[in-house]
Amino acid sequence: MADLPRPRYRLRRLRRTAALRALVRETSVDTDRLVQPLFVREDPRADRVIPSMPGIFRLTAREAASETEELGALGVSAVILFGLPAEKDPIGRGAFEEHGVVQEAVRAIKEATPDVVVMTDVCLCEYTDHGHCGVVRDGRIDNDASVELLARTAVSQARAGADLVAPSAMMDGQVAAVRAALDREGFEETGVLAYAAKHASAFYGPFREAADSVPRFGDRRTYQKDPANFRESLREIALDLEEGADIVMVKPALAYLDVIRAARERFDAPLAAYSVSGEYSLIKAAAERGWVDERSIVEETLTAIRRAGADLVLTYHAKAFATWQREGRA
Ligand code: PBG
Repeated sequence: MADLPRPRYRLRRLRRTAALRALVRETSVDTDRLVQPLFVREDPRADRVIPSMPGIFRLTAREAASETEELGALGVSAVILFGLPAEKDPIGRGAFEEHGVVQEAVRAIKEATPDVVVMTDVCLCEYTDHGHCGVVRDGRIDNDASVELLARTAVSQARAGADLVAPSAMMDGQVAAVRAALDREGFEETGVLAYAAKHASAFYGPFREAADSVPRFGDRRTYQKDPANFRESLREIALDLEEGADIVMVKPALAYLDVIRAARERFDAPLAAYSVSGEYSLIKAAAERGWVDERSIVEETLTAIRRAGADLVLTYHAKAFATWQREGRA
């Protein structure tokens, strides 16, 4: 025993106590870097409960305003809104109506809590009766016709008071069109958070249940990007920055940490990651069964997303995380 080599370096020295570990911790998750997604329903009688997303509800505009107030008090200073219109149609009119569900929710939230950052998802899939993110022509999604409606949607949301609009339809040129439309209408201060590297992912399943936006035919693979491609993600991000995005996003998060890391290294713009509905539901389902500890898993995964390089994280766990922080260490 005596002649076995003794370690020359002892990394355990800095792991000895909680205070030492805290001194050298490289990554933190702060509540003010989290964005809570909120579903806002237009029909007051529509179902509140989303079975596949326990703890997340379809809110009325008024409820969204008080929820945002609570979030603000907990230190979560941003929300992103998704609208559930009372009626759907082929072109998703509800997305760009002056008094659409999201537009009204933005107004209600801004009136109650003007300091909380309000982001709005710019897409048509929650509003179209066929469930696609754009306009359908001859069984295909018409890129340029869709972009026009997306630009109208963004302007109507900016007019309602959104701080950042977030185009998520994955149409080519959508960021440039949204930027130009905002500028033309006098909203040069409204920012663009681009869903730049948005993958065609099975992790969106629970969201589509929540928004009743499963495509009625085909799938989203002709516009959302192939999960197998890494370089293409970087091209998408580069293009969105060129088109004027203020913040670029990678989505989903956990299965795409390599893309987040590479984007962090290649681009200097603020980088967001979206930990999507399926990521939330997987954790909830396992935690409900007592198979994993929810709080620890959430802290670990959010840390991983931040460590990979995301500046801000969109997560359905934002409120829970902030509440745990407030309660102190478990
Ligand atoms: C709209 C949109 C979707 C999500 C965000 N914006 C649905 C989709 O693309 O099918 C998914 C978010 C989530 O799963 O939490 N296009």
